[in-house]
Amino acid sequence: MSTHPATAPIEPQRDLKIPRHLGVIMDGNGRWANQRGLSRSEGHRAGVEAVRRIVGFAIEYGVQCLTLFSFSAENWRRPPDEVRFIFGLLRRFVSSDLEKLHAQNVRIRIIGDRDGLDRGMRGTIDDVESRTAGNSGLNLVIAFNYGAKTEIVSATKAIARKVSAGELRLEEIDESTIDQHLDTSGLPDPDLILRTSGEMRLSNFLLWQSAYAELVFVEENWPEFDESVFVRALKSYTKRDRRFGGIRT
Ligand code: FPP
Repeated sequence: MSTHPATAPIEPQRDLKIPRHLGVIMDGNGRWANQRGLSRSEGHRAGVEAVRRIVGFAIEYGVQCLTLFSFSAENWRRPPDEVRFIFGLLRRFVSSDLEKLHAQNVRIRIIGDRDGLDRGMRGTIDDVESRTAGNSGLNLVIAFNYGAKTEIVSATKAIARKVSAGELRLEEIDESTIDQHLDTSGLPDPDLILRTSGEMRLSNFLLWQSAYAELVFVEENWPEFDESVFVRALKSYTKRDRRFGGIRT
């Protein structure tokens, strides 16, 4: 078990179902900071610590793929200073934790619109992805400048281009064609989407991929995320009866 201090003792977990792919909407950094009279930046800094914790739990509990929603295409509406601060945090996280993640066999993939990012950021992304491409442990997917609707539009354009170039026939297009043209191509669909801070919506996160995902919402703000919250989410997921539109047999 992790050495991370939890608010309540964590019992040994024998019968937990572990999602193959866990998606997380990390929400509530600002509120966490506000409640403590701290700046929003302090909230995001504490959010990075929670990122480190969840990566550790994902490895320890055997999650194959962990996708973290770090910056949405809509987050550009925030004050420029806050946007710059979040970008800096991600860059620093990647550079300071890369060696450790690499040693833990973690493969990093960044999804989202790269065209809207500066050259330095794009370089950092290419670097971490190529450094860790050969790893076979946890797939850590960071959704950065990501929006699901834009992702689907880009996939649609790429498919249309192939059709007009004669590389693909209209009749050949099926769900797997869309899957293959999304940023998440090659990854399993999320089994569980977890959102912190009590908000209950998907906010343009993995909309196509989450068609049959179980959703778990917890009241804690993201910086409060710890092993007890993680286990509570897994317990809730374990109880779900996943039928994928069929009936229980
Ligand atoms: C949501 O809280 C959080 C974000 C928009 C940013 C998340 C970014 C990080 C945790 C840091 C960088 C990421 C990585 C992977 C190192 P909010 O600001 O929307 O909170 P509020 O709704 O309470 O205002």
